[in-house]
Amino acid sequence: MDRRMLVAGNWKMYTTSGEGAALVEDLAPRVSDDWDEVEVAVCPPFTGLKAVSTVIELDHLKLKLGAQDVHWESEGAFTGAIAPRMLTELRCDYVIVGHSERREYFGETNETVNRKVKAVFAAGMVPIMCCGESLATRDALETESFVRKQIMEGAAGLDTAEAAELVIAYEPIWAIGTGRTPTPEAANDVCRTIRATVGAMYGPPAAMAVRVLYGGSVKAENARMFFSEPDIDGGLVGGAALKADSFADIVKAAL
Ligand code: 13P
Repeated sequence: MDRRMLVAGNWKMYTTSGEGAALVEDLAPRVSDDWDEVEVAVCPPFTGLKAVSTVIELDHLKLKLGAQDVHWESEGAFTGAIAPRMLTELRCDYVIVGHSERREYFGETNETVNRKVKAVFAAGMVPIMCCGESLATRDALETESFVRKQIMEGAAGLDTAEAAELVIAYEPIWAIGTGRTPTPEAANDVCRTIRATVGAMYGPPAAMAVRVLYGGSVKAENARMFFSEPDIDGGLVGGAALKADSFADIVKAAL
């Protein structure tokens, strides 16, 4: 089965809405020949979604828009939180859920990740559900079992169509922002385990369809190696997504 490659930029807490709009204006001409073949998405902070969404609409860009987090309730007394329908109103296609930074600094668990995954689907968007092990877990040779549990709990209770549409980003915590990466083969091994786990939960067609991205110090120089692996369907890019030229080079590596 042909899975469409996806390259998504996670801008984390780096861009104002003005900077985000400028980044998209800079990026669009560099990748506009490519996004029929590769899906390209950017995930600004909440405050930047409207400005980026407006650029996408006015310039008729095929760029996809994602948020970095969401609450699972559709409304309520949850000061500071953002509901799924607030993101669909801004024409978000994707929502990153369960990034390791959210798990570490904001107390997210597999259970809250699962609620968010379901809420994102219920609102008509697609979750980019993150998983990945710490260095201690890797050193203890427990990566595969740790990641398998994250998938089994985080992606529980979906229907098979949702499971097939899900995007899972494998991001080893020790590779995020460090310049260190697993070998492409080692990353692919974990991505294959992720796919097999989805297969065990939802059947072979879902396993064949689910897109598994690699994230963690993806750069223009190493992207092609990761994207050539059979179970890696693209990348979730942090630092290198903040510059139009380096992000565009990563998109080209996925062609
Ligand atoms: P870096 O690409 O900066 O390592 O960040 C990866 C990441 O966390 C993307 O979600």
